Amino acid sequence: MIRLDGRVAIVTGASQGIGRDCALALAEHGADVALLARTREKLEAVAEEIRRLGRRALALPTDVTEAEQVKIAVARALEEWGRIDILVNNAGITRDALLLRMKREDWDLVLQTNLTSVFLCCQAVLPTMLRARYGRIINITSVMGQMGNVGVSNYAASKAGIIGFTKALAREVASRNITVNAVAPGFIDTDMTRALSEEVRRQMLALIPLQRMGTGADVAAGVVFLASEEAGYITGHVLNINGGLYM
Ligand SMILES: NC(=O)c1ccc[n+]([C@@H]2O[C@H](COP(=O)([O-])OP(=O)(O)OC[C@H]3O[C@@H](n4cnc5c(N)ncnc54)[C@H](OP(=O)(O)O)[C@@H]3O)[C@@H](O)[C@H]2O)c1
Repeated sequence: MIRLDGRVAIVTGASQGIGRDCALALAEHGADVALLARTREKLEAVAEEIRRLGRRALALPTDVTEAEQVKIAVARALEEWGRIDILVNNAGITRDALLLRMKREDWDLVLQTNLTSVFLCCQAVLPTMLRARYGRIINITSVMGQMGNVGVSNYAASKAGIIGFTKALAREVASRNITVNAVAPGFIDTDMTRALSEEVRRQMLALIPLQRMGTGADVAAGVVFLASEEAGYITGHVLNINGGLYM
């Protein structure tokens, strides 16, 4: 049984969906969790759920595209708990459009939110992980970064970028006992996929060998494993959690 007692985790995009499920699962396994996203009320609600599990939680309203806000949030977690062992870079958005119709601002916003935020959050937590000679960084990429799809060139580029970033950083910090891995969810039932048309959802489902959408809990199970001491010899890996959609 994986235990994360005494560990401190930061989860971005923790106000709902996959990030919320990851935060709760990390807490269920014993970690204290700092929750980052922009919407304070939702973060407070997740923090309350974690406290009911008997763990400590911090709701830290943060726009992860803003370097200063990220630094302040990380400093706040360190001030409170003195360590950061686990970072889950999960915050992400979509702004789908065919390439010829894609607005420059939607390209920029998706790249900043999904990819630049990973750079900013890693840069903010690494000094403390390097000093501790311990760290678990888990970046949430997507099956779309592996196989692509029509209308998601900005999103696919951001998620493929996360995979390259993960492998490069994994090599850079491996000697300090810090692992860096990616989790690539497939088609997961959250607000992000509920926004798709019935037609698109039906088409996606037909491609999934396990014949169902994934849940946030399916993704969280992989995140908890990669956050554990037991996964200490795994780095630079991309863990597919996609029901067989992409193999
Ligand atoms: N659902 C899927 O099928 C699927 C598949 C593969 C990968 N993923 C990835 O999994 C991650 C979570 O997706 P989800 O489905 O759970 O989506 P979601 O329900 O829309 O949640 C997205 C989260 O990101 C936060 N966020 C967005 N922009 C932010 C910003 N600038 N600063 C801080 N937080 C921000 C949101 O909170 P606020 O709005 O409060 O800031 C929210 O907590 C994303 O990276 C997504 O690309 C999802």
